[in-house]
Amino acid sequence: MQEPRPTRDDKFSFGLWTVGWPARDPFGDATRPPLDPVESVHRLAELGAYGVTFHDDDLIPFGADGDQRERHVKRFREALEATGLVVPMATTNTFTHPVFRDGAFTANDRDVRRYAVRKIMRNLDLAAELGAHTYVFWGGREGAETDAAKDVRVALDRYKEGLDLLCQYVVDRGYGLRFAIEPKPNEPRGDILLPTVGHALAFIGALEHADMVGLNPEVGHEQMAGLNFVHGIAQALWHGKLFHIDLNGQHGPKYDQDLVFGHGDVKSAFFLVDLLEHGGYQGPRHFDYKPPRTEDPDDVWVSAAANMRTYLLLKERAAAFRADPEVAAAMEAARVPELAVPTLAEGETWEDLRGDRGAFEDFDVEAAGRRGMHYAALDQLAVEHLLGARS
Ligand code: GCO
Ligand code: MN
Ligand code: MN
Repeated sequence: MQEPRPTRDDKFSFGLWTVGWPARDPFGDATRPPLDPVESVHRLAELGAYGVTFHDDDLIPFGADGDQRERHVKRFREALEATGLVVPMATTNTFTHPVFRDGAFTANDRDVRRYAVRKIMRNLDLAAELGAHTYVFWGGREGAETDAAKDVRVALDRYKEGLDLLCQYVVDRGYGLRFAIEPKPNEPRGDILLPTVGHALAFIGALEHADMVGLNPEVGHEQMAGLNFVHGIAQALWHGKLFHIDLNGQHGPKYDQDLVFGHGDVKSAFFLVDLLEHGGYQGPRHFDYKPPRTEDPDDVWVSAAANMRTYLLLKERAAAFRADPEVAAAMEAARVPELAVPTLAEGETWEDLRGDRGAFEDFDVEAAGRRGMHYAALDQLAVEHLLGARS
């Protein structure tokens, strides 16, 4: 492979369900045979990933008995030891089995809610045992197709109850795990609860253990809602809530495409990598993509490598953008650094501002209204760096 090549320090990770997706969709059968998690661990390690993540049922088939369970975990653990791959995150499948037809934490059926919490507890035990630091909650089936069937305010009470009690479980067991909620607006439900980063952030504030709950935003999910993913991530960082991230590609509001990272809105991907690399995010760069249904078993690994390579290329481009003196000058011209200057001077009060004639009475508002911001020139420099037209 050509430079840049991924290394463990890049902290790239993949879900077993990503490379392992046999490509069954609502309209067609699988186009690829099932993939052994042990093979995935070895192939991902060879490609330069540092971590692998899983849903309980990706590793241990639903309904497996105690002995089978142990055998699956043992083989997986041996593969981890042989390759040095780590498990930074784990999660629960609360969406495939028909019992979850109406959700897990927020199912109207109370028996289902109790069963779901037990299923999650069991996998929290395994996640802690395998050394995971983050546990993801993607509420794929927490939602409805009709507003008559779901009192959303009550459903949020139950969502909070479930997360509060599982936080308490983690605290009492001393697992040291943090929870990361993954928002998504729709699919598989007509409408999913906690549909965007913003909804989830507000909800977290209402939780008992708000400090140990953050976000796992996914590129495509915010874009399905027509939102700017980079802005969502910036706000999550601002709140100290970017615990994990699902990187992939999407072309605007349509079904969840889960394309290779950068194979959707590449300009947004450029600004995203720039933000992650310069914004203080230290966590895994986790890819939640699907090798397209057109691909054969060898192509799967080509697409897996493409995620990491695209990330690294964008990282190089973003660094060149930041280091370019013309970009610095264009940012100055666009008053980008000025936004970091507080609106009031140090020690200044609203009374001082109210008495400052220069700020209002003597301010030449017409002249200020004629000042251009020169953003297009700056944006063009970003596009040229992204295209490799400047080094
Ligand atoms: C999706 C989601 C899932 C979750 C996964 C782990 O849209 O299908 O992104 O892939 O990320 O269940 O939480
Ligand atoms: Mn997705
Ligand atoms: Mn995801």
